[in-house]
Amino acid sequence: MNSLTRWPAEAIWEAIAPELPGFTVEVLPQIDSTNTELMRRARAGQLEPVLLVAEQQTAGRGRLGRDWHSGADSRQSSSGALTFSLGLPLAPRDWSGLSLAVGVSVVQSLHPDLQLKWPNDVWLHERKLAGILIETASLGQVRYAVIGVGINIKARDAAGLATPPAWLREVLPETDAAQTLLRIAAPLVRTIKAFEASGFAPFQSLFNARDALGGLTVTLSDGLCGVAQGVDNTGALQVLTAQGLKKITSSEVSVRPTGAPPYEFL
Ligand code: BTN
Repeated sequence: MNSLTRWPAEAIWEAIAPELPGFTVEVLPQIDSTNTELMRRARAGQLEPVLLVAEQQTAGRGRLGRDWHSGADSRQSSSGALTFSLGLPLAPRDWSGLSLAVGVSVVQSLHPDLQLKWPNDVWLHERKLAGILIETASLGQVRYAVIGVGINIKARDAAGLATPPAWLREVLPETDAAQTLLRIAAPLVRTIKAFEASGFAPFQSLFNARDALGGLTVTLSDGLCGVAQGVDNTGALQVLTAQGLKKITSSEVSVRPTGAPPYEFL
């Protein structure tokens, strides 16, 4: 991101602060990773709610220990992506499905064409547009959640990626990272507070309405194949296999659309 970017920090703060006392918005020109930074702060005892935006991440992280690159070169401006983390103390009765609820919130804030690939990738036209990484730190009785979101805004170099990524300007040609953050931030906080109060069940049908895997044959990491049937009220992926209906709570799922050569969206 270049220094000309005008971040709507005040508008976001005004929309969120009444619901989250002590909330702040912070934009940094560069950081290793917004998730890493908020986890560092939490472990050092900083547990206030904060939205941390990075114009450039030098060591962005994805799920399962993967890297998250906002562009082909970590030294280049990352104006092609929006990268932020929301940190806040959270105390849901059951944490299962939080990342799915976050995905629901992101797609609903952005565009009707966006879909969700269980557990929490955002897809556009069968390509990955955004990823979500949720981590937590416990300090005494308090559990602090760090919800990281990375969204491709502009076309980016696909070198080294198994499938070319998607970007938001394909469906919102005029948008930029700042406008995208403004659309997402307040609904995301509302979603998280709703999840804290009522868990995943109220999000089940919303997720299934955006489910990119429903009806597709999927291959689980243990080699089992079946047809994806949406998620249950805890966010588990339901897969109809030869051995019956399996509920998957944590697994990478690869997809083989019928009639096409096997390929993976991972
Ligand atoms: C994934 O798809 O595996 C999750 C990607 C999450 C990327 C975001 S970018 C902002 C935040 N900081 C990080 O280091 N990761 C998340």
